[in-house]
Amino acid sequence: MTRKFYITTPIYYVNARPHIGHAYTTIACDTIARRQRLLGADTFFLTGTDEHGQKIERAAEAAGKSPQQYADEISGEFRALWKRMGISNDDFIRTTEERHKKRLQELFRRIRDNGYIYKGTYTGQYCVSDELYVDGAQPGDPCPICGRITETVQEENYFFKLSAFQDKLLELYTNPDFIRPETRRNEVISFVRSGLRDQSISRSTFSWGVPVPDDSKHVIYVWFDALANYITAIGYGSTHAGAQEAFKKYWPADVHMIGKEIVRFHCVYWPAFLLAAGLPLPKAIVAHGWLLFEESKMSKSRGNIVRTETILDVLGADALRYFLLREVVFGQDGSFSFDALVQRYNSDLANGIGNLASRTLTMINRYFKGEVPYPSPGAAKTAADDVVAETARKAIREFSTLFDQFQFSRALETAWGLVATVDKYIVENEPWSLGEKQDDESRARLATVLYTSAEALRIATALAHPVIPDATAKIWQQMGLGDIKKLDLNKLAWGQLPLGTKLGDISPVFPRADKSAVERMQKMEDQQRGPVVEEAKEPVAPAAPPAPPTSTPAAVATDGKIAIDDFAKVDLRVGLVKVAERVPKSDKLLRLEIDIGTEVRQVLAGIAEAYAPETLVGRKVVIVANLAPRKMRGLESNGMIVAASLEGGKPVLASFLEDVPIGARLK
Ligand code: ME8
Ligand code: MG
Repeated sequence: MTRKFYITTPIYYVNARPHIGHAYTTIACDTIARRQRLLGADTFFLTGTDEHGQKIERAAEAAGKSPQQYADEISGEFRALWKRMGISNDDFIRTTEERHKKRLQELFRRIRDNGYIYKGTYTGQYCVSDELYVDGAQPGDPCPICGRITETVQEENYFFKLSAFQDKLLELYTNPDFIRPETRRNEVISFVRSGLRDQSISRSTFSWGVPVPDDSKHVIYVWFDALANYITAIGYGSTHAGAQEAFKKYWPADVHMIGKEIVRFHCVYWPAFLLAAGLPLPKAIVAHGWLLFEESKMSKSRGNIVRTETILDVLGADALRYFLLREVVFGQDGSFSFDALVQRYNSDLANGIGNLASRTLTMINRYFKGEVPYPSPGAAKTAADDVVAETARKAIREFSTLFDQFQFSRALETAWGLVATVDKYIVENEPWSLGEKQDDESRARLATVLYTSAEALRIATALAHPVIPDATAKIWQQMGLGDIKKLDLNKLAWGQLPLGTKLGDISPVFPRADKSAVERMQKMEDQQRGPVVEEAKEPVAPAAPPAPPTSTPAAVATDGKIAIDDFAKVDLRVGLVKVAERVPKSDKLLRLEIDIGTEVRQVLAGIAEAYAPETLVGRKVVIVANLAPRKMRGLESNGMIVAASLEGGKPVLASFLEDVPIGARLK
């Protein structure tokens, strides 16, 4: 019977457009899925979007759209991007699809029927950005994942008896392959050992979610909803025979690939939900690190994202795939930079495998009329040929061991070690000099050298195919080997290149990138990062609701001018936005926490229609620091942000072209 292989990415939130952080996980899974297909496994690769919950509801509201319309748009962007990149997912699940909602309710019912769900009241802190109940936190405490100040929630909920699963989970973790890498496994073990509280799995204070079966006052907690995608997508809870069969065939998943910030949801809650439902558990949960950009986690809220499209436009999908898997040690955080990307591209792709392909195939064309020559036995063989063959055999073995342990960068290193060995071999054996001579001995030697090079190229290409599918498919065609997808990786071995194979048309697969590539990509990104400050029509205008009259009205001269002393009374300072969020039930107000050097101030600003809160975090603003405090919607505002008020338009925040330190005074 054919072996099956089921792999998933997280389903991404639709609160923001995709960036290369999302592409990273998707590429890693795509690479694994492609390799599994070449190994003959009946492979199912799933990705999708996570579209319910308060975070999405608020993001949609900030964008002035209905949650469904908003989710449709951004989910569409994810799908379009994966399509453009040639991602080979077999399905794309959206949590707003009927098939998911019905099957999710079925899961909820089953767990409730099994006695693991009860009604209660949750009072405590909640982080909307991570959709996380922060147990044990006090009002004002930050979220342990993202650092934003948590919100206090008090509402009726359905609870899941997580506490009942502590021992079973700990037993599960004794399997060292269940959570990888080991550091994550240890974290999870110590978290679970410290004791598990029952987990709220419904919300009742907003409506953007899937109703709890038989109690539509509640919507199912977005993480319960989202995690269920891994089984609903392949047919769990369906009444259709075909879907039931698919579920039976593919579940349990072989790999759930995730980023490290969502380990707890996947390694604690998800297995517990499955245990409660009496369903088999996934075989492995594999967590990778974060892509960093400009030294912090690339994320929409920090505003330091790099769009995938920019890299696709300039260097292509293979370049990004290779870079991410080669440069970042899987499991650890890794920095992204355009410089490093272009450097890797040139050294390993353009000058590496690309150059090896073009020089080898060009010489076969020139000296053997485009037919792979027979390696000559006897005198024409040297120890150097054996070194290449041995390196190739070793690469085949090591690549698969390392790859199967998710050590992509080391696996690629091995394959590129083969490329380097052949390069050296070609330089040392000078086929171009042999090609100048007409004697039989030189011809025989030339045949061996070019056969050896071509065979090594074939093996490097086959190994690299799952990582750089486009270029390797082209090299395969150019070598006259046909469709690379028909390759059987189980049989890959030295010496199988069919002699006399007629080469196809040759053209370079990785043209060298020049210096301007970095600048071009940088520029494309800068243009995306939002407009440069425009000159305001009025220099200063209150962005917050009108300030209350001050106790000492400024002495206004008759001509409307003020004295310098009057101006000096206004304490204007540079602040850094640490937290920004919408004020519940207000269309206009945002609650900000602004670091002004000496302290962090809470400020309410009427800019919600102009700025999505997540775009403000990390931004420097000007604040009036000595304004008398005032209360709005039960919250105290301690200062005012300076913005230009444009007639009929939305406020534009004052900002600086040069970098300015936090706390600097404006005079
Ligand atoms: O967490 N570096 O969705 P999300 C590496 N909807 N990976 C990154 C990354 C970065 N800087 N940024 C994003 C959610 N990712 C939930 C998941 S699953 C049932 C529900 C990748 O949109 C990484 O895989 O916040 C991370 O775990 C995921 O995107 C988070 O995507
Ligand atoms: Mg996230």
